[in-house]
Amino acid sequence: MLIDTHCHLDFKDFNDDRPVVLKRARDGGVGIIINVGSSLEGTARSVEIANENDFIYAAVGIHPHEADSVSEKDFKLFSGFLDKPKVVAIGEIGLDYYKNISSRENQKKLFTRLLETAKGAGLPLIIHNRDSHQDMIDILKDVMGSSVSGAMHCFSGDENFLKICLDMGFFISFTCNITYKNANKLKETVRLVPMDRLLIETDAPFLAPQDFRGKRNEPVHVKYVAEEVAKIKGISFEKVAGVTTENARRLFKINA
Ligand code: NI
Repeated sequence: MLIDTHCHLDFKDFNDDRPVVLKRARDGGVGIIINVGSSLEGTARSVEIANENDFIYAAVGIHPHEADSVSEKDFKLFSGFLDKPKVVAIGEIGLDYYKNISSRENQKKLFTRLLETAKGAGLPLIIHNRDSHQDMIDILKDVMGSSVSGAMHCFSGDENFLKICLDMGFFISFTCNITYKNANKLKETVRLVPMDRLLIETDAPFLAPQDFRGKRNEPVHVKYVAEEVAKIKGISFEKVAGVTTENARRLFKINA
C-alpha cells in the first residue's frame, strides 16, 4: 500500500471524473490520500471530500499566493476547520519567493499567523517553500522553536537546507519531479534523506511523472515516486512503500 501525502483533488481539474480518479488510485494500491487545502475555499472542499471518502484525509491551509487578500474573517473561518474529525494537518502554508504572487511582507505575516494557529491546535505542518529558505527557517524557529512536526512538501533545497530541515525534525516529501530525466541534483538529494524521514506525494494535478509530462497528474502516479526512490536507494519497491506508509501514518497520526 502507498500513501499520497499531498494532492489537490478539490481542484476543478478533477470536476469531470473525480470518482474515476479515486477508483484508479485505490485499484493502483493507494490506500490513503491526504488532500491538501491551498485556499479557504479549497480547504472547505478538501474537508468535504474527506468526509465523503473513508480513505481520504484533509489538510487545511492557505497558500502564500493568497496572502494579499486574506482578511480577519478568513482566519475565523479557518479556525473553524481545525477540530473537524478528518483534519490531520495544517497545510499547505509557507512562503513562495519564486512566483511572488503576494508581497513578501504579507506572506510572512500570513505564515506566522498560521503557524501560531497550528501550534495551538497541535497539528503537524505541510510546508510550501520556494526560494525562501532563510526567511522560512527564521520564522519557523521564531514561532515553533527548534523542533517541528511536519513535512517539507515537494522538497527542492540543497544539502545544507536539507540538513537544517532534518535537524528540526521535518519529514522530507518528494513528488513525481524526481522522475524527470534532468533531475540529477534532486535524485542526489533523495539519496541523502534517511528512509525513516521520507514521504512520497504527487501534488496532483501538478508535476506529472516523466512519462506523462504536460498532462494532468493524479494520485495513482505516486507509485512512480516510490519506484524512483527504490531505484535511487537500491532497495525494493515494497520496502519504500512500507516505510513511507509507516512514516506518513506516524506524522499524521492515521491509524485506519
Ligand atoms: Ni500542493
